[in-house]
Amino acid sequence: MRVLSGIQPTGKSHWGNYFGAIRQYIDLQDEDESYYFIANLHALTSIRDSKELQSLTTDIALDLLALGLDPNRATLYVQSDVPEVSELCWLLMTGTPMGLLERCHAYKDKKGKGLSADAGLFTYPVLMAADILAYDADIVPVGEDQQQHIEVCRDLAGSFNHQFGETFVLPKGKILDSSARVPGTDGEKMSKSYNNTLELFENPKVLRKKIMRITTDSRPMDESKEPDGDVLYDLYSLVATDEEREEMAALYRSGGFGYGDVKKALADAADHFFAEARARREELASKPDKLREILDDGASRARKKAGEVLRRAKKACGV
Ligand code: TRP
Repeated sequence: MRVLSGIQPTGKSHWGNYFGAIRQYIDLQDEDESYYFIANLHALTSIRDSKELQSLTTDIALDLLALGLDPNRATLYVQSDVPEVSELCWLLMTGTPMGLLERCHAYKDKKGKGLSADAGLFTYPVLMAADILAYDADIVPVGEDQQQHIEVCRDLAGSFNHQFGETFVLPKGKILDSSARVPGTDGEKMSKSYNNTLELFENPKVLRKKIMRITTDSRPMDESKEPDGDVLYDLYSLVATDEEREEMAALYRSGGFGYGDVKKALADAADHFFAEARARREELASKPDKLREILDDGASRARKKAGEVLRRAKKACGV
């Protein structure tokens, strides 16, 4: 089994990214072979500031490694370090019906809002198909919102195979488990676009302040409360141990507690939960050469595989 997924470097990683996706990617690194890349070419469709794009790319690489991605087991690389993928993208582009891309949501939503889209956004799903097909990937773990792109990838691979003979492996999407409730500081779903995030590697003091400012209801101290669905309790559940979680649930149900105490407990549990990753990240961030080495090594392994598939595809279509 070959697992592959890409992450766009479009913002600092937050708890929603970790509990909804990153943690699950890392769990999949023990499959036969796994490839994870930082989709900086895709990010270029929305980030038009070179320094920002570069620093977000480094940030995500550090985050993934700090959180447990093991470059000896998984191949970690930056998308643009594998030019074979862009070349493959062109081969696929020549058989892609316009109508297929016109139905894709990122483009459709933008047009629907009356905004003008560029060719990069329009052809975004073709580059994503090349990302996947270049590695003969079997399984592609993605969020629900990317399912349509996996379908496009399968369509393009299928019609290429049909025209030119068996060339590409048809991948399957694996929709990530989105059952963990990760509310933001305002109680809505945590998302960069709602500006309610808790960043994973925020300065601990700043993080604590953000936690202290989380909106709560005006429940009196002595009243009991159902823990599930409470913003603080849900966040606490993500970072506390089972025992701590049960104790906290009992406290909610018996009443006689204040939200201030829960916030302190949440901040402490978060400190503890991310402590190891934080230390690893700091250590790695202080050695940019080491990070470069890991990404270069990942890119050279990735290029080897993508080169093979590209040669196969070029031969098949006669270029
Ligand atoms: N489009 C994906 C996202 O925004 C990122 C991505 C790019 C990707 N290429 C990929 C994911 C290939 C899986 C496979 O989340």
